[in-house]
Amino acid sequence: MTRMTVNDRPVQFDMDPQTPLLWALRDAANLTGTKYGCGNGDCGACMVIVDGAALRSCLITIAEAEGRFITTIEGLSRDRSNPVQQAMVAEQAIQCGFCTPGIVMAAAALIQSNPAPSKEEVEAAVPNLCRCGVYPRLVRAIQRAGRVARRQERINAAPAPGISAADAARVVPAIRPPQRGKGSAD
Ligand code: FES
Ligand code: FES
Repeated sequence: MTRMTVNDRPVQFDMDPQTPLLWALRDAANLTGTKYGCGNGDCGACMVIVDGAALRSCLITIAEAEGRFITTIEGLSRDRSNPVQQAMVAEQAIQCGFCTPGIVMAAAALIQSNPAPSKEEVEAAVPNLCRCGVYPRLVRAIQRAGRVARRQERINAAPAPGISAADAARVVPAIRPPQRGKGSAD
């Protein structure tokens, strides 16, 4: 049994300790916001925050994650109020959506440790691949998120998607109330 904290909740995985964290999160914990892109550490689609640092969850085993604090895109904010989420929407820096969760997690970890990053610092901390080439907007959005985090600027939260939290919970198991058992929080 491998134990860790995921999105502020204690979780235990009854799985092979060598299972990549990515698969435990997606298949056992049903946190499918973390994406599988390459499985090789190249794309960044699987990025999660581990003890404050953005790491590729396809490269970490659950044994290596034992006892650590993991944040996935589902746990970053309940209402898309994280400055990176707000700025990504405001700067229209989201295209396919598949690579976006990993980008947001890498950017959120950066802004937490360095809320005034240079272009070069953004590029170094957010190495995620984006096939549609949204990079210039990404840099603008992440630097803007830093200004929001530093309270130099305000962005109104993105409008609600038109579905209620109850509707979302019905179709997205990951945001249902905690359940006991394999891969679930208790
Ligand atoms: S799936 Fe992990 S880096 Fe691509
Ligand atoms: S936004 Fe996903 S590939 Fe560019």
